[in-house]
Amino acid sequence: MTALTRLRLKDFRNYESLSLDLDGRHVCLFGSNGAGKTNLLEAISQLGPGRGLRSASLSELTRHGAEGGWTVSANLDDRRIGVGLETDGGSAKRVIRIDGAPSQAGDLAELVRIVWLTPAMDSIFRGGASDRRRFFDRQVMAHIPSHGTAAARYERAMRERNALLERGHVDPAWADAIETRMAEAGAELAINRASVLESLQAAVDARPEGYFPKGDLSLEGEAETSAAAGEDFKTIFESLTETYRSMRRRDAAAGRTLTGPHRSDLKVIHRPTGMVAGDASTGQQKALLIGLILASATALAGDGGGPAPLLLLDEAAAHLDANRRAALFDELSALPGQSWLTGTERFLFDAFGDRAQHIEVDAGGAAILA
Ligand SMILES: Nc1ncnc2c1ncn2[C@@H]1O[C@H](COP(=O)(O)OP(=O)(O)OP(=O)(O)O)[C@@H](O)[C@H]1O
Ligand SMILES: [Mg+2]
Repeated sequence: MTALTRLRLKDFRNYESLSLDLDGRHVCLFGSNGAGKTNLLEAISQLGPGRGLRSASLSELTRHGAEGGWTVSANLDDRRIGVGLETDGGSAKRVIRIDGAPSQAGDLAELVRIVWLTPAMDSIFRGGASDRRRFFDRQVMAHIPSHGTAAARYERAMRERNALLERGHVDPAWADAIETRMAEAGAELAINRASVLESLQAAVDARPEGYFPKGDLSLEGEAETSAAAGEDFKTIFESLTETYRSMRRRDAAAGRTLTGPHRSDLKVIHRPTGMVAGDASTGQQKALLIGLILASATALAGDGGGPAPLLLLDEAAAHLDANRRAALFDELSALPGQSWLTGTERFLFDAFGDRAQHIEVDAGGAAILA
């Protein structure tokens, strides 16, 4: 099983310094509210691409009162990996190490893949499209790490376009240049999303029937629809370019870009009832989401080349009844990557038994109990 066997934190959130040596089983963290359980998962999430489990900025992660930056280092199977924020006078930058040597984010992404579920995701089916899009883009990033940089390029170009339109007299050549960059990044986003949606749906379909129901997924967005239909990059790019050009007047009036992959939505149907997921009960939505995350981990594990994903489940067990908890632990045990779970009470993880290590987290410290 792909697993973290050592985790060291320095000046990360409430941890001044923490050192955990693990034996490679799954990990259950329990402890009272505010003890630092989610912070531990967040630390691990920094090893993956993007901003981690709480989308925090790098400096927010520094322990209050600490002198410099923070570090998270770990042994993942036989590799030593680490990330951190290094401060030097006024400047601060993210640094990455692999086996002791300074490295690039892309190299780290080849070694570690992480999927997570947090209580904040509970509302994605009811909330607006942006929450679902962010959730889905997270899954896409776990499969395709460059998705994050494509999204950043898209956002940057869009901000420039919005600023240009706001100014009134638009220089068409300038707008063309910006829209070309948007369409390039946008076509990449759409193709990434459509391809990951397909493997995610396949993984959902292949899951056993049980407590975590299946969903039918689709992407609502013109570019994604084209990508799903097999259109190539050039066709999607040209179509986006045309859309942006023809929308200049309306976008200028609206003060923002009204169409494009930044508006796409993930539609989820709760298969057992045929209802849009947002209309399902709270418990049904939660179970559906757990099923989706399990499918995401399975899809990653099955896509050849890359490492098996680590799974971070923040408070996933707390709202499940005993049967569902046991079913969750059984499913996690069948995955090829280590799972990390949190909860306020130790008994929540009883059914995991000796398939997991049980660790008590207590105000910036952690003790392995079993
Ligand atoms: N940058 C920081 N420096 C120091 N402490 C911080 C920092 N950021 C957050 N904390 C503190 O870390 C503590 C632990 O937070 P965390 O979210 O990990 O708790 P938790 O164990 O998950 O609790 P809960 O069960 O309520 O979810 C909180 O008291 C929080 O205020
Ligand atoms: Mg928490």
